[in-house]
Amino acid sequence: MIDLIPRYWYNIVPDLNRPLPPPLDPEDSDFSRIELLNRIIPKEVLRQQFTAERYVKIPDEVIELYSLAGRPTPLMRAKRLEELLDTPAKIYFKYEGATHSGSHKINTAIPQAYFAREEGVERVVTETGAGQWGTAVALSAALMKIKSTIFMVRVSYEQKPGRKTVMKLYGAEVYPSPSEITEYGKNELAKNSANPGSLGIAMSEAIEYVIKNDYRYLIGSVLEVVLLHQSIIGLEAIKQFEFIGEEPEVLIGCVGGGSNFAGFAYPFIGSKIGSRYIAVSSSEIKKFSKGVYEYDFPDSAGLLPMLKMITLGKDYVPPPIYSGGLRYHGLAPTLSLMIKDKIIEWMEFSEKETYSAAKLFANAQGIIPAPESAHAISAAIKIAKEAKEKNEKKIIAFNLSGHGLLDLSYYQKMEAK
Ligand SMILES: Cc1ncc(COP(=O)(O)O)c(C=O)c1O
Repeated sequence: MIDLIPRYWYNIVPDLNRPLPPPLDPEDSDFSRIELLNRIIPKEVLRQQFTAERYVKIPDEVIELYSLAGRPTPLMRAKRLEELLDTPAKIYFKYEGATHSGSHKINTAIPQAYFAREEGVERVVTETGAGQWGTAVALSAALMKIKSTIFMVRVSYEQKPGRKTVMKLYGAEVYPSPSEITEYGKNELAKNSANPGSLGIAMSEAIEYVIKNDYRYLIGSVLEVVLLHQSIIGLEAIKQFEFIGEEPEVLIGCVGGGSNFAGFAYPFIGSKIGSRYIAVSSSEIKKFSKGVYEYDFPDSAGLLPMLKMITLGKDYVPPPIYSGGLRYHGLAPTLSLMIKDKIIEWMEFSEKETYSAAKLFANAQGIIPAPESAHAISAAIKIAKEAKEKNEKKIIAFNLSGHGLLDLSYYQKMEAK
């Protein structure tokens, strides 16, 4: 199976219609955030962030570990879902939940941890909200035989003991954030000892901890280098579609920072396969319907360089929908640009709609999807219903970014409604 894993990642930047606006420091600041990135991110990761190469070679050891972690992931046909919808469309999905960490996040955690270890770093550090990213980092560090520290937003730490247990099982040190182990965390706790935490606070703690100890920081989405690593999903899917002799027309993925959608759809866009690409967010978040295209910080603490992107503003406080991975204010710059240029379409669905879609999908296909991924399922169902009305034999493909087996409290809550 390892032979089926692509040897190169795909970078869409050289194929864009117009140049990508670069990351910037704000004009009124004398602190260089680009220099900060240099100190905290593994050098090769930073080089890849700014590369203009179309293809970037994947190190052999990363390919081996991709294989160990469950790649290639299956491309499956949702035939029973098609039958239930009584649609002439064919629906395929790429199942990233089949990786051992349970989501696509492992695709970038492995190479980032690999490049950190190549620099002789003994520990990698990150923040996590819902826990998918933290799980991927904990597993990648274990595979690389280095240590990991995860600052987990306190409210999730308390609400999702299952995630915390998985990360600890992989050997990670997990702290509820705000924590007592950084100055930033201590200050927040001094102001409010019951602070539930936020991704911004957890990220600030992780970065402070990295700088103080000369560890390396791993980043879970939004930056182009993350999208580059995630292209393994689409590159694999292209080969799988070739193998079965089909060509998808509509490609769909859910969107937090944009990495699983981009990882799935960009290789198809680059190979000119497909005619519609649909990024899906939540109608409770309204990133697409309310977001503006402008320079903004990718992190709420304002420690990272500003990116030109579709954003709700770094201080935006998302409503408490359970899809933690979608509760993010910004969107990767290449994806924002292509949405602006109408190369990529968007849709938004409510928690109620995505719960129904998840339930229908689980009954038809047996897989409990992550609530984030259920947004992609909702869009696939919508397109399949439209195909029925028009009697079109469309081929639809969506990325099922993760399983929902550690999200049962969400399903319990929705079931009770
Ligand atoms: C299962 C799953 N899907 C989707 C996302 C959204 O992130 P991204 O847009 O970077 O793929 C997340 C983020 O945590 C996630 O855990």
